[in-house]
Amino acid sequence: MADARPFHWEFEPEQVDREVFQVEGGRRLEGSVRISGAKNAALKLMAAAVLTGERCRFTNVPEIEDVRVLAQVLEDIGVTVDHPEPNVYEVAGGDAEWLFVPLEAAAKMRASFILLGPLLTRFGRVIISNPGGDRIGRRPVNLHVDAMRALGAEIEYRNGYYFAKAPGRLRGGLVTFPQVTVMGTENAMLAATLALGHTVIEPAAREPEVDDLIAFLQQMGAIVERTAPNRIEVEGTRRLHGAGHAVVPDRIETGTFVVAAAVTHGRISLEGAPSGHLDALLSIASEMGVSVSRDESTLHVDATTADLQPFRCCDIETQPYPGLATDLQPPTCVLLTQAAGLSHVTETIFEDRLEWLGELRRMGAEIEIPDQHHATIHGPTRLHGANVEIGDLRAGASLILAALAADGTTTIKGAHHVHRGYEKIDQKFLELGARIERTAEGT
Ligand code: UD1
Repeated sequence: MADARPFHWEFEPEQVDREVFQVEGGRRLEGSVRISGAKNAALKLMAAAVLTGERCRFTNVPEIEDVRVLAQVLEDIGVTVDHPEPNVYEVAGGDAEWLFVPLEAAAKMRASFILLGPLLTRFGRVIISNPGGDRIGRRPVNLHVDAMRALGAEIEYRNGYYFAKAPGRLRGGLVTFPQVTVMGTENAMLAATLALGHTVIEPAAREPEVDDLIAFLQQMGAIVERTAPNRIEVEGTRRLHGAGHAVVPDRIETGTFVVAAAVTHGRISLEGAPSGHLDALLSIASEMGVSVSRDESTLHVDATTADLQPFRCCDIETQPYPGLATDLQPPTCVLLTQAAGLSHVTETIFEDRLEWLGELRRMGAEIEIPDQHHATIHGPTRLHGANVEIGDLRAGASLILAALAADGTTTIKGAHHVHRGYEKIDQKFLELGARIERTAEGT
């Protein structure tokens, strides 16, 4: 590794960490909003672009902090990243020569670990930091590392960094995961595209963003296919070429706005919403009494009838796709605070992802949390304004939802977590008639 390239990481300006959302609740949201591209697809697509030296062009990329962080990581390793217009990114892998993903990148965004597979398979070596990421439980990367080893990589862990080498070239093989992992599946698939021979990944994650990545890899010339619902097979090739792709719409953002309509007893049209990708949430919402319909690419959510009839309580459990996404557990919990009766919540994917419910309790929600994986929500409760703090991205958006439903004003600290994954969230809510403002703490 050559020396002294000045990584241009800067400390976050104090202002950013001090940013708060101020929300005056109790207003019915009405109107229409355009759904952005999916964060969890865009990041992997941009990482996949380094599998070739040629230019790749992505449209419908969400303008969010995580995309900016990844663009910066890519630039720091010598990849050209252009941002010619809003929501469009071009990535030209060229000869990335700084095969080093620093702690600063990993600490800002766990998803930077998705660069392991593509850099290792194309350049034969990479040094990458162990990621920190969200405060939502242990977030190990052992399954990614095991997958690379199954493809012939030699990986050592020293001083917080993985030193990975692929002597000669990675070799196709059988990658068997003990549990479903989204990014683990994606890393293995990306690595296998340039490996020698055939790879089978099982169980492979079924999330729509994984299929979006498969579609793009095929455009690049990769031989990759989902051959069974939970199996992906890859035939390695020598070379991939540049390609273009429009990022799939964000089902998590869509679900967030579905809940926004419901808890404010509003009526919202979600333009460009994905079809079929959030059936688990929509069937819960319908079971609770929210009206959901679709015409072409617009999803219509109408909860105005909730004035007359309270929502019905419901038990939920997070599961890998096609089950209810763990990323939609927080918004769904906000909805359940408005349902009559007892709702049981089981979080099966991450430890600590129920922690944020403590903040929701400050707003008047009646919730018991007997252990890290279970909660019981008593409803309906009238939520009230409070001072609350965001601990992670999805919980952050959900505290905004609670604030929109609440009586009075809520001050939400930690707004920067939300900007990681939601494009212009405050602006979108403003367009729907919400009273939401971004200010610096203490002003
Ligand atoms: C991705 C999503 C995240 C979503 C999650 C689950 C991105 C950038 N993030 O995260 O928004 O909440 O899927 O749908 O796409 N695990 C291990 N070892 C590993 C990897 C994972 O034990 O090496 C465990 C995790 O701790 C977790 C489970 O496996 O308990 C599933 O995690 P995984 O699907 O890998 O989540 P991510 O891909 O990191």
